[in-house]
Amino acid sequence: MNTNQRLLRGPLFTCLGDPGEEATPLPDTTRYLEDGAIWIVDGHIRAVDAFEALAGRLPEGIEIVDYRDKLMMPGFIDSHVHYVQLDIMASYGRELLDWLNDYTFPAECRFADAAYAEAGAERFLDEMLRVGTTTAQVFCSSHPVSVDSFFRAAQRRRLRMIAGKVLMDRHAPDALTDDTLGGVRDSERLIADWHGRDRLDYTLTPRFAPTSTREQLDAVGGVLRSAPDLYLQTHLSENRGEVAWVAELFPESRDYLDVYERHGLVGPRSTFAHGIHLNDDQRRRLAQRGANIAFCPTSNLFLGSGLMDRLACRDVGLATSLASDVGGGTSLSGLGTLQGAYQVGALLGQALTGWQGFYRLTLGNARALHLDDKIGSLQAGYEADIVVLDPESTPLMARRLSQTTTLSERLFAMMMLGDDRTVAATWANGRLVHERDAVAA
Ligand code: GUN
Ligand code: ZN
Repeated sequence: MNTNQRLLRGPLFTCLGDPGEEATPLPDTTRYLEDGAIWIVDGHIRAVDAFEALAGRLPEGIEIVDYRDKLMMPGFIDSHVHYVQLDIMASYGRELLDWLNDYTFPAECRFADAAYAEAGAERFLDEMLRVGTTTAQVFCSSHPVSVDSFFRAAQRRRLRMIAGKVLMDRHAPDALTDDTLGGVRDSERLIADWHGRDRLDYTLTPRFAPTSTREQLDAVGGVLRSAPDLYLQTHLSENRGEVAWVAELFPESRDYLDVYERHGLVGPRSTFAHGIHLNDDQRRRLAQRGANIAFCPTSNLFLGSGLMDRLACRDVGLATSLASDVGGGTSLSGLGTLQGAYQVGALLGQALTGWQGFYRLTLGNARALHLDDKIGSLQAGYEADIVVLDPESTPLMARRLSQTTTLSERLFAMMMLGDDRTVAATWANGRLVHERDAVAA
């Protein structure tokens, strides 16, 4: 038997394009196979089709994994998450700036220690795979060792991950602030070591405007200009107090976004987390440069930051991605994030459908991160990152799904009722990396 290939057999759902916002997906944007099969060779998808159609083409003796009572989808993607904040999820928060000072900064200080960072990275990746997330854009701490630890752990598991060292040279405890240009040099060393290696990419990570000087932001812009295939991630207009603080710190800028524009940080690979308190002019400027807003619904609800108007972004052509923002977020799970997105949308009169929800979590996020030729869809040539959902993961979900008659209803009910128990298995690069019911050896 050839161990580099296998077939996963069962129902499968994938997006091929953006299904739109309506109750019925746009033509040719989704694919559902009742008895489907994914043929995996050397970590990549060789073919996806009905089992019967593939059966005659398979090599003799190929291993067949039977998921006929499950539902397979592309691995979930999280466009903005802080691995160093896992331990402070659900810390009584009040609002952003207090929460940063009281919980976030003390927690991140601990990542100066290599052993602590290594254990933290492993714990975080275990949790990600448990909820079916195979790719994320990740904030590490300001300590280079936190980034090396993260990339090493992701590399060992052959995951596709994007991560970067936080840059911040002011307005934080001494144990967290870096040297203005030293922090940028450390980033360049990390880029040289990790960017483009295996399935890993680097993202420049100035925390947000208030914690970097103009000099540091300028130097980051210089690095981005010299290597436009790098990513960049930061925070933007999450909280009204934060917006007012930025206006005080950067009086020369006409608004918050202008700070990032002046320093050359807004490009097609830039992700701005939150973007709640923006006007249409700012949204248009972001859209023109091809940047994306990471919508972080559970975090926005937890910290009372506000309701992100997803359709106002869409209307001006501004891409949005979907993110947990743990530890501000209350769920690492993509399904939990979708529940938050639905609730925020419902309050704005733009409730999310199951089609749009699962699109956002997979191909939509892959597109926002320019990875849609590699991940986010179940198609020949894609990397074999797959989540296996269990429609009968709890008696309640089994009962609820037995009452549905359409795929649309089933997807929506799974999105709204699902959690980590719903993820029966996770595959990354063609390997089984999580199994819910695995028996301990
Ligand atoms: N703004 C600056 N830093 C952070 C952070 O760690 N979390 C959130 N939610 N917002 C931020
Ligand atoms: Zn964040």
